[in-house]
Amino acid sequence: MRGAFITATGTGVGKTWLASALAAVCVERGKRVAAIKPIETGVDEKPLDALALARACNDEALANAEGLYRAKEPLAPYAIEKRGGPAVGSLRAMSKRIRELGRDADYTIVEGAGGVLVPLDRENTMADLAAQLDLQTVLVARNALGVLSYTLTAVEALRKRSVSVHAIVLNDVEREQRLDMSRTSNADVLADYLPRLPILRAPWVKSPTDLLDTALQLYETLKI
Ligand SMILES: Nc1ncnc2c1ncn2[C@@H]1O[C@H](COP(=O)(O)OP(=O)(O)OP(=O)(O)O)[C@@H](O)[C@H]1O
Ligand SMILES: [Mg+2]
Repeated sequence: MRGAFITATGTGVGKTWLASALAAVCVERGKRVAAIKPIETGVDEKPLDALALARACNDEALANAEGLYRAKEPLAPYAIEKRGGPAVGSLRAMSKRIRELGRDADYTIVEGAGGVLVPLDRENTMADLAAQLDLQTVLVARNALGVLSYTLTAVEALRKRSVSVHAIVLNDVEREQRLDMSRTSNADVLADYLPRLPILRAPWVKSPTDLLDTALQLYETLKI
């Protein structure tokens, strides 16, 4: 299966926005794409991330496909399991399901949940799912003070599980007006620590459809 695993330094840093923009660019380029959120928690009536991804690749049914993990509490899956809620089950079965859903696609985009070491069960984290899937891994990070350590920590955790990172996206989640000196130097510092690893910047935008330029850069970087 060819595809991307979109993970992040944490929750709310732009995985869904970027993944749906990437899916839209793939569609625009004539690719058959499946964009999947296999594990979504905090689901009230609908799995909103999964729906955003599914809509971006014009296949709404993907969001509610059987065999994916959905839970109501906005917690890590293992925390939910410990409270007596549903368990993720075998990662092997989950990756098999993802492969089935991506069967007819030229490119499969999988969004993680939260950051790289979110506990899925007693033994496995999101990084272990990334390792099973063996896709092109993209690490999204909030371009703000703290991102150097968050990013280097996440890259180390992934590499320890033999997951190679293919690109980092530094995302301006906050409006430019909020002054943060680190914003202009983060990419440069990370480049010295992570030579040969493409580091892209995503600007602050009003909606994910305004991230198409960044998504196109990512499309080209990943040689989709
Ligand atoms: N480039 C951007 N410009 C402006 N706002 C952004 C940008 N990227 C993300 N955001 C804001 O951050 C919020 C969180 O983004 P998103 O839902 O993509 O994060 P996530 O990493 O998918 O979160 P989760 O861990 O819940 O899946 C968005 O709703 C949006 O308000
Ligand atoms: Mg998301």
